Amino acid sequence: MAEAGKIKIDLGPRSYWVHVRPGLMARTGPFLAEMFNTRRAIIITDSTVGALYTRPLQDSLRTAGLNVHAIAFPAGEEHKNLATYNVVMERLLGLNPPIDRRTMIVSLGGGVVGDLAGFVAATALRGVDFISLPTTLLAAVDASVGGKTGLDAQAGKNLVGAFHQPRLVLIDTTLLTTLPAAQLRNGLAECVKHAVVRDATLLNFIAEKAPAILAAQPGPLAELILRNVAIKAAIVSADEHEKSLRALLNFGHTLGHALETAAGYGGLSHGQAVSMGMVAACHIAAARGLMHATHAAKVRSVLESLKLPVRFADLPTLDAKARDFQALLPIMGRDKKAARGTVRWILPKGLGDAALFEDVKLEEVRKAIEYLNLS
Ligand code: GLY
Repeated sequence: MAEAGKIKIDLGPRSYWVHVRPGLMARTGPFLAEMFNTRRAIIITDSTVGALYTRPLQDSLRTAGLNVHAIAFPAGEEHKNLATYNVVMERLLGLNPPIDRRTMIVSLGGGVVGDLAGFVAATALRGVDFISLPTTLLAAVDASVGGKTGLDAQAGKNLVGAFHQPRLVLIDTTLLTTLPAAQLRNGLAECVKHAVVRDATLLNFIAEKAPAILAAQPGPLAELILRNVAIKAAIVSADEHEKSLRALLNFGHTLGHALETAAGYGGLSHGQAVSMGMVAACHIAAARGLMHATHAAKVRSVLESLKLPVRFADLPTLDAKARDFQALLPIMGRDKKAARGTVRWILPKGLGDAALFEDVKLEEVRKAIEYLNLS
């Protein structure tokens, strides 16, 4: 369900709204005071975002009469782990007076903060409420909506986690218009993902507005966010726990996660990895006759227009093992979405439609990686 500037995630008694408009951070205090029976808010953020926004968010919460405390951890995906979780959790539980079940966690940041703060909220006192203020496009259109929370383990990304839905998501579009282009591109890969699996008209919108979106123009950016949140909301409302439909959101991620792991932390961004993964999946789909070659080429050219990588040559600093089928294969097999012995892929069936395929042969994957190496 969507109203002007807000979209509902429909999960019965656990339903919540995602609000999308400029200036929402300053309204966080009034939202909390009006909607929830809480007098206390704990902001969880990282060192980068915290330095920019903890103060204005604290001011908004305090002005609304809440008692506020902030906990920041070092920024970066390499800190989304059990060690950071332990530090944040011990600080949270060590607060005086102690937190209770009416304490509201406020997640302030990008995908890493959202995943970690959400997992802290899922597990502190066996679960406390949290709200989310995403500060990156990636977090706004994907990570902040749908309740996936978690941490990376040495064995792979996101292998520790829980489903724990937020009570409210506030996307302050003003924060996103100041993002550097590389940060925007990180989120744009997920927007292309949504378009390919659910909405061909969104792909046309992205293709047409690519320069305006990359320039962070407020109008196109707000429309992009609303359209993507609407897609994510419909999928999560239909399949919260990824039993069927939600698996489509892993389009581009089988190879993408493997590339990220092989490249090492900081080797390439999530958006870059997913972009390469989507090109590979389109290549396999076109070779199978599931998708017309011109449609696969269109996805590739939209990604290129967003300055996302579509071949290994676009990633000259990437570690050599991340280009190698033999090195990538065991990592793909370790992905938690991989069933025994086979690598599962989401493949497009044209534009705006996709399905989960369990029968993708290793030879098809090898050819797709060869394509990324040659093209
Ligand atoms: N990011 C994929 C999902 O939320 O299911």
